[in-house]
Formats: sequence, C-alpha cells, structure tokens
Amino acid sequence: MKLTNRNLVTIDDVSNDEMEALFCLADDMANSLDSQYGLCQGKIMASLFFEPSTRTRLSFEAAMLRLGGRVISAVDVGATSLAKGESIADMARVVGSYADVIVIRHPWEGAARVVADYAGVPVINAGDGGHEHPTQTLCDLYTIRKQRRTLKALRIALWGDLRHGRTIHSLIYALARLGASILFCPGPGLELPEHVLRRLSTEYKGELRRCANLNQGPERELFPIDAVYITPSSPHQLAMLPDISVRVELKAGVDALYVTRLQKERQAPTVEQQELKKKYPVVDKELLKGKEFAKTLVMHPLPRVDELACEVDSDPRSMYFKQAAYGIPVRMALIAILLGTRDVAISREYNSFAQKVEHPVYKRDSGVKCCNTNCVSNQETETKYMRPEFRIVSSEPLTLRCIYCEHELHAKYVASSDWHQGKLENKKYHSANSHWARKIKPGNLIIFASEDEAQAQQFKPSSYVTR
Ligand code: NCD
Repeated sequence: MKLTNRNLVTIDDVSNDEMEALFCLADDMANSLDSQYGLCQGKIMASLFFEPSTRTRLSFEAAMLRLGGRVISAVDVGATSLAKGESIADMARVVGSYADVIVIRHPWEGAARVVADYAGVPVINAGDGGHEHPTQTLCDLYTIRKQRRTLKALRIALWGDLRHGRTIHSLIYALARLGASILFCPGPGLELPEHVLRRLSTEYKGELRRCANLNQGPERELFPIDAVYITPSSPHQLAMLPDISVRVELKAGVDALYVTRLQKERQAPTVEQQELKKKYPVVDKELLKGKEFAKTLVMHPLPRVDELACEVDSDPRSMYFKQAAYGIPVRMALIAILLGTRDVAISREYNSFAQKVEHPVYKRDSGVKCCNTNCVSNQETETKYMRPEFRIVSSEPLTLRCIYCEHELHAKYVASSDWHQGKLENKKYHSANSHWARKIKPGNLIIFASEDEAQAQQFKPSSYVTR
C-alpha cells in the first residue's frame, strides 16, 4: 500500500496500520536525524498559515529543512491575494504549481479539503477552523505509543473545550478506531458537538453513555465527567451497568489525560465567556494526586493558558513538551512518505479495529446549504464555483452531513428526480419524514431547504406534506 501523493485532510485519511508504519519511520528518523538530510532535496513545501501557529508551522518547516527540502510560506491572509477576494481554489491551483506539497492552516472549516481538491499535489491539513487537526493527533498518538509501547486498549480522558477543539476531534476519531475507551471531561457548555458524537456511535459503532447526573455529585469537584464512550472492540461490563459505573471506570485509572485550552477565538466574546473562563476546569498537582492518575500521561497540544498549572511541568507524567518535540520526526516521516521519497511497509497490526463506514453522497443544485456559517461552502468567495456536498448518514430522520465541515442538517422536504415521466403534474415534493419520501432511492433524491424553494423549482406539494 502506498501513501505517496495522498492528502491528509482528516485523520481518517490514514488507516491504523498506515499510522503505525509512519510511526516506525518516525522512530528511524528520530534515531538518525542528521542522516535524513537530502531525502527531499529539490522538493519544495508551501507553508500557508492563515491562523496563529508556533509549533505546527515551525515543526513542519524544520522537518522539511531537515529532509533537505525548501520552504515557501505565507502566514497572513492580508499578505496574499485571498485579501483581494481570490478563492481558495484559485490559490490552491497556483500554489500547487509552485510547490510539491502544501501545508495549510485556515480559520474556515473544510478549507483544507478545498485546497486538496484543487492543488494537484499532496495537501496536509494543519488545522481548519474547529474541524480537524490530524497531524497533531499523529504527534499525540506517537507520544502515547512511545510511553506505553502500544496503542491498544487505551483509556483516555479528554479535558476542556471539546466543542471547538480541532485537536480533540481528530484525536477522538483515531482513538475510536483504535478501540479506546474515552472519558469526556468538558468545561461547562463545551461538550462534544452532536455531529461528532453521532459519528462516534454510527460510523465507529461505539456505545455512548451520557452520565450527566455525575456532574451533580461530589465527584464534580474532582473530575467533571460527562460521558463515556466504549467501542465494541473492547466490550466490558460497563456498557451494561448504570451510570455509577463510570466512577468505577475512572478509579481503574486512565492512560492519558488530554487537556485543551478554551478556544476563545472560535466563540463570540460575551459576558458568558468571561464567566466560562472562571469556571474552566484546571489540571494541577492537587487533581493529579488522585489514585486514578498515578500512571497517567498528562498531555496538551499547547499552547496552554490557565487550564494546566505550571507546577505540573516538573512532574514526570507531563508529556506536553515531548508531544511538541515529536512534531519533528513525525512530520519528517509524513512529508517523506507523501512525497514518495521513503516507502513504508504496512503491517496488519491494527487491521481488525473499526474502520469508517461510507455513506452515499448528495450533490445537487437544490439550494440546501450547510448550516455552519464558518463552513468553507458558505463563504462568498467560494460559492461561485463550489456546490454544497453532503453524505446521507441516516434516512430516519433524513440527515445530511456536510463533506467539508461535517456539521449535520435534517432535511424537511424532498422529491424524486424520477418524478414526472415527462408530466409536469407529477412533479411533487413530500415531507422528508413521510413513508413516501423513504421510498426514494438515494441516487434520485432531491432535497429542499424549504417549501418555497421546492415551489420555486416548480414542484407542488403532494399529499405527503405535513406542516
Ligand atoms: C492547537 C491548534 O492550533 O488547534 N495547537 C497546535 O497546533 N499545537 C491547539 C490550540 O490552539 O489550542
């Protein structure tokens, strides 16, 4: 299996086994950093960072330089033609003709996918809004694998801003695929987005248990757990027990506590946000005294603000500066693999773990739009050439997931493209939840955002329209 010329837009673009192969190469490279020079000689990496970055950008650039390649960069939208109203697709075509690989960070969710669609060279997503940050996940898992020697049967607690943290989203999908048990410890109002939860249970066939009542108990002070997720590949009795068993689960200890900062740039600055800052959970020496954390790796993608006390830095369980340092060998391995300057042998070590389920694609000019205003498909510069595109992830209720940002919407009105056999009077639309609508084959489905839109396209209401 070859990874050459592939994109890394979401963590699902690499399988568990490919990830393991990449980690083996990263080990090799870490052990002989200086002898990697020349591997990418003559190659150019474009480093496009349209949001602040220290670790990700500098480690990508240092990785390419250590491989003997060269770097061209743009770090400010204002200094590029995007500021003049150029589309991301045009920028991608142009940069793709200058560089052999593109690394992009952009504030719009789905921007990296658009770049990958148009660049013609491998594209690496270095963070697209609050969506995903797959290479951070590679660094995170590499760190755990280094410490624990395996990525099997992990128990991980995710802490902080689970709603807006893109590192969390990529990590969670990878952990689910690896059969980990995951505990969620969100700040108030910062629980995982519904669409991420749904993906965990539908695509990775996991079992999700909400344990909201735990938040009221005395444990709240110690460890604010909200939910636990268990994959079927590591079934255990917890799935059958009432919520109280989550405490038992926690008492058995966690392999890693993954802390994240409040992503304040992804929320409107309000009075509530000021309040939230005060209530944001903090990881400090006191919390880590708990028996359940005796062997826990304390992780953080960095930068940290106040959620992780500096007093933890000298604790041998703290891993965050190692995570950042591993960015070099991990990103060197990734660049070399994508550019085809190093091949890797793919084992079948993690082959038996959950793999993603594919859903049918919906792509029509019917006017149904993604509901996320920060999605690339909703931006004025992009709508000129791009059609919204969705995956049909459920038929009851009819649910579409945007292929760019993965937010979901429930369709209200539908019709069949197989409608009239030439007869205009048969051109009818139906409520999406009617039994008639469910008979429409995915390939024939037309979805409307509203009745007005259906009527604007000359469809008339059928008797299966309920209001
Ligand atoms: C993260 C990011 O940019 O999403 N940082 C990083 O890449 N290491 C996390 C964050 O900014 O909180």
